[in-house]
Amino acid sequence: MDVVGPLERGLAVLRVMSAPGGHRMRPSELARATGLARSTVDRVVATLVHLGHLREIDREVELAPPLMEPGNAYLAGCGIPDALGPVAERLADEFDESVSVAAPDGDGVRFVTQITRRRTMSLAFRIGDLLPAERCAPGPIFAAEWDEAARAAWRARRASPERFPEHFPAVPARPAVEAEEFDRRVAHAAADGWAADDQLIEPGLIAVAVPVRGPSGHTACAVSVVSHTSRHTVASLAEATLPRLREEASAMEAALARVLAERASGGPGAAAGAGAGAGADPARTAKRELGPEFLQSLARGLTVLCALDGTRSLSEVAESTGLARATARRALLTLEHLGYVEHAGRDFRPLPRVLELGYAHLSSLGFAEIVQPHMADLVRRTHESASMAVLDGDDIRYVARVPAYKIMSVDITVGTRLPAYATSMGRVLLAGLPHTQRAARLAGAGPRPITGRTVTDPVELAKIVEGAAEQGHAFVDEELEEGLRSLAVPVRDGAGQVVAALNVATHAARGPVEETLAALLPPLTETASRIEADLRAVTRGRRLRLP
Ligand code: PHB
Repeated sequence: MDVVGPLERGLAVLRVMSAPGGHRMRPSELARATGLARSTVDRVVATLVHLGHLREIDREVELAPPLMEPGNAYLAGCGIPDALGPVAERLADEFDESVSVAAPDGDGVRFVTQITRRRTMSLAFRIGDLLPAERCAPGPIFAAEWDEAARAAWRARRASPERFPEHFPAVPARPAVEAEEFDRRVAHAAADGWAADDQLIEPGLIAVAVPVRGPSGHTACAVSVVSHTSRHTVASLAEATLPRLREEASAMEAALARVLAERASGGPGAAAGAGAGAGADPARTAKRELGPEFLQSLARGLTVLCALDGTRSLSEVAESTGLARATARRALLTLEHLGYVEHAGRDFRPLPRVLELGYAHLSSLGFAEIVQPHMADLVRRTHESASMAVLDGDDIRYVARVPAYKIMSVDITVGTRLPAYATSMGRVLLAGLPHTQRAARLAGAGPRPITGRTVTDPVELAKIVEGAAEQGHAFVDEELEEGLRSLAVPVRDGAGQVVAALNVATHAARGPVEETLAALLPPLTETASRIEADLRAVTRGRRLRLP
């Protein structure tokens, strides 16, 4: 078939960077690992950087959260995290054990939801990680529905054990499980409707799984409870959890059917047409800007993948991406050829393998790792120190900081607390609270003068906070410390809730207030929007753990 070469090569680069330790590489290393010409790698990288999927740091390139868009579209479309996430949370609380949900992916098992219990000894797979079917609890359940082709693929993969690490980078290599042993587990799963993992991945790690069927009657995913031999044997774990797992599996099947029906009818649960701007083809403008360095067909292929939030016809994809039907079709067929998309009649749908593209690494990034590169960029642009803080009682607490290299700079570290009323970050954070809470916090804080300029009158402070809410930023001029000015903007999560504040601090000697504001506000606002976009990508369907 006529595959779209640049798309194929772009995905090859992303796959190499998705392997353990690959999330940050030099272009020369990428050329070596992919076997592509250096000039090709440079064009692929330039294109992916322009799209925001990669970012350049020094001489290296790094996976960036916007690359989660295709995976987020798959997850939204399959309905599993939305339908099963809340039940999985409840079960994890009830059992006080980790609970995971995995979907069948070829002869592997791909994690789509993880509710982890923090334990000293815990092996937590990440969303997007792939396990071999014969080495985990959900595997036999999925294998019970394999057809002859799938069995043959499994046998072929096992015939070359040296390629195991390449197929399953998340799993420690151990001697292969006997085929007869797996057959026995598959027969048991088919007969009894559950399966176990008795330390097949890692000594001590055990799991029990049950299937959850989709509306078609086929197994859509499996829910596992994961424990450790220090707490349970497989028998005691099964006894403790199976009755409840089975009960909840029916509830999960109903929830999944409901979510998928909503998606199909375009109702309240309909996915948002992730990422792709309806009607516009952004690759066209980028091509004009970047010229030959920009691989239009790679950009278009990724736009198509981001638009596949569930089962979509070719016409729907063409319409939502603004691409010509022939272009969209070629991208879809290339994606199908590479195993990311499946197609039946006129309908295309994304496969769990989409999560292979950086999802496991990016979904496990912490707050500081997400915000840090953006703050470093802000410091480079403004030559001032940047900080992020959250509201903690009447105080703000610093959660990230990038100092500017200056002889005289403000000496604050992560963890520092300052009174919210006297700081620009505090004021935008207070402005993010509901009206009723704002006044109470301001009065409760007992504002006192810190410098001769500190505003302490609760009524006046309430007005200032109101102003910050209206303007979307707060400016504090020498109220916290003589000579110190600071400008802050809010950072919101996907639901529009203010979760943190971002600021730059500067010296009063820098110049007139108006000039300082004019110079600092645009880069500050822009940085906050980039951080918000990354947070949205990383937290889709999950709660962000703020530091
Ligand atoms: C996990 O969620 O970490 C997990 C699930 C099933 C297994 C092993 C681990 O068999």
